[in-house]
Amino acid sequence: MSDPFLVVEDLTVKFPTEDGLVNAVTDLSYTVEQGKTLGIVGESGSGKSVSSMAVLGLHDMRTARITGSIKVGGQEVVGLGESKLRKLRGKEVAMIFQDALAALHPFYKVGSQLAEAYLVHHPKASKREARRKAIEMLDRVGIPQPDRRVDDFPHQFSGGMRQRAMIAMGLINDPKLLIADEPTTALDVTVQAQILDLLQDLQREFNS
Ligand SMILES: Nc1ncnc2c1ncn2[C@@H]1O[C@H](COP(=O)(O)OP(=O)(O)OP(=O)(O)O)[C@@H](O)[C@H]1O
Ligand SMILES: [Mg+2]
Repeated sequence: MSDPFLVVEDLTVKFPTEDGLVNAVTDLSYTVEQGKTLGIVGESGSGKSVSSMAVLGLHDMRTARITGSIKVGGQEVVGLGESKLRKLRGKEVAMIFQDALAALHPFYKVGSQLAEAYLVHHPKASKREARRKAIEMLDRVGIPQPDRRVDDFPHQFSGGMRQRAMIAMGLINDPKLLIADEPTTALDVTVQAQILDLLQDLQREFNS
């Protein structure tokens, strides 16, 4: 059997504040094998978001104090430089968040943002190819009339459609691991169920 894709060992994250050090995550260890799903549960403030963001190196190392080890496909992430992290983000590991409206830029068309994300890891692709990829991804996440919707701004999408667009952005570079930090909390129950079904379908599709 191959090694797990994600190996987190004794991860500790502390934030210095005016009231002293905040222990956000203490001695967390877990592994995720490729193609598998891991659900992390815990009360509010228990460190779910902070520990997930550490996997993408999203904490400012000048402030957050991170110790332990996070290996993504064998590559150590803790202490890794920003330019190397950028190569990892989106391509090896992508993350989707609770608030799609905050994750999408209000001034740019949804399609342009998707195309931009694609071009980060496909710098040789043409603008046309990137746009075609954006439409294809919108289609795959169930946006109706994707060739028309690609030119919409985020506020022209419904809440569920924005969440789908964010998932499309997360998956556009075919990452090996997708971290979903409560991506459905802001949605009503029926749309929540649709989004979870979608993630399950996509996992099957992308793993094959
Ligand atoms: N930048 C920061 N500076 C200081 N403390 C922080 C910072 N970010 C998070 N924390 C603290 O770290 C702890 C863990 O926060 P985190 O957001 O990971 O919780 P969570 O498990 O995701 O909670 P929720 O279920 O509410 O989303 C909390 O006590 C939080 O206040
Ligand atoms: Mg959280």
